[in-house]
Amino acid sequence: MNENEQVERYLDENRQRFEQELYELLRIPSISTDNRRAKDVRRAAKWLRDHLQGLGLQTELIETTGHPVVYAESAPVAGAPTLLVYGHYDVQPAEPLDEWLSPPFEPSVREGNVYARGATDDKGQMLTHINSAEAWLRAAGGLPVQLKFFLEGEEEIGSENAMRVLEQRAEQLGCDAVVVSDSSQLGPDRPAITYALRGIAYYELLLTGPARDLHSGVFGGAVTNPANALAHLLAAMVDADGRIQLPGFYDDVLELSAEERRRFAEIGFDEPAFMERIGVSGLSGEAGYTTLERRWARPTFDVNGLWGGYQGEGSKTVLPARAAAKLSFRLVPDQRPEQISRALRTFVAERALPGIDWELVEHNMAPAVLVPLESAFLSAAARSVEAVFGTPPVFIREGGSIPIVAAFKQGLQADTLLLGWGLDDDNAHSPNEKLSLRDFHRGIRASAYLWQQASLISRSKTSG
Ligand code: BES
Ligand code: ZN
Repeated sequence: MNENEQVERYLDENRQRFEQELYELLRIPSISTDNRRAKDVRRAAKWLRDHLQGLGLQTELIETTGHPVVYAESAPVAGAPTLLVYGHYDVQPAEPLDEWLSPPFEPSVREGNVYARGATDDKGQMLTHINSAEAWLRAAGGLPVQLKFFLEGEEEIGSENAMRVLEQRAEQLGCDAVVVSDSSQLGPDRPAITYALRGIAYYELLLTGPARDLHSGVFGGAVTNPANALAHLLAAMVDADGRIQLPGFYDDVLELSAEERRRFAEIGFDEPAFMERIGVSGLSGEAGYTTLERRWARPTFDVNGLWGGYQGEGSKTVLPARAAAKLSFRLVPDQRPEQISRALRTFVAERALPGIDWELVEHNMAPAVLVPLESAFLSAAARSVEAVFGTPPVFIREGGSIPIVAAFKQGLQADTLLLGWGLDDDNAHSPNEKLSLRDFHRGIRASAYLWQQASLISRSKTSG
């Protein structure tokens, strides 16, 4: 039996255990945004650290001012490249809880899918690379490439601390390419490799008016209402054609080429099915672009939260003292979050109304990423995916953001392979999140194959 066959056999024999281990990790409610869950987040980090240590890797739990980073590395392999695997063990909150068919932190298998918060985003996808490494270590006596694992607990809140660790340890984390599975296939049995992600600029805008809530009959019409002012501001942000009105917003936008638009059109995106899946009766967006172009390659503005004034039952004639919104822009290459922040401040300042103070708090900031399509690692990944899924991957872009990916390019000069094993209807961030167990195992296989394919890329071709 050659090494590949030994690895294959090991994977076959350990399917059940890999699933059980995934369920163990899914039982830990590692919700990064919720401080009351900080102990659970740490428990997930330690679970991973112990697991990687058990495989014989050098491990370290890297403390930060927030949640820890789990680091592990295998032995260097002379002449073969080093790959950095990135993943995140934190999850989004599970609310609304009453919409889950089974409890979010009690994994439940139905029709070949495991349902739990974090199943696809990102515990299941992340584990595929750990399991494939195990197979090589145990069945073949070692990995054909050096692997470094960089697993963080703050992706869902912007990765600020992980980025700091990356800066401080650029040398230790040095690699020839990064591998991330935290995205999706194009659809069932339509594997994909993602070559672009959108960036993000996320803010909270707070408007303050009178010193206290006022009677809207006595004072309304003369005193500026912060909720009215906020509504005006937000409405002014996008025109009737869906164009964002911040000064200079489109200056750095990399336009889609005719060739890329043609490739998007060839993908055969089923718009009615898409609408049905998300339960909408119509779609809207920037004029002149298709739905795929709008989601993958155009910048957007969204209000993510909005409050102010009376929210209770019935009516209350109040002129609220405050109103606020959480808002975000999804960015495309080559927009810069700092430029967006400056433009937003100018935009708000220019529309300031008498009697209103405003405060703008910055949350998540990350530029978009665009991965070059012509790279030996990308070809190796495509071959690995095809070998396992039986069909070559489609090259797609996606609309979500993985904040640290741009920093890998900046800080490590490494491009990232975005190998998504999920599906866009996996309900990431929503109730009833799931992952197909068949795709979990196919992901493990493709990953195992990737290590072997990547080992054939000589280091001299990649460095310098
Ligand atoms: N896995 C997603 C990112 C993603 C989603 C990539 C869909 C490709 C397709 C990730 O966990 C995520 O949700 N990221 C956040 C980042 C934000 C909090 C800064 C996002 O995109 O909202
Ligand atoms: Zn997520």
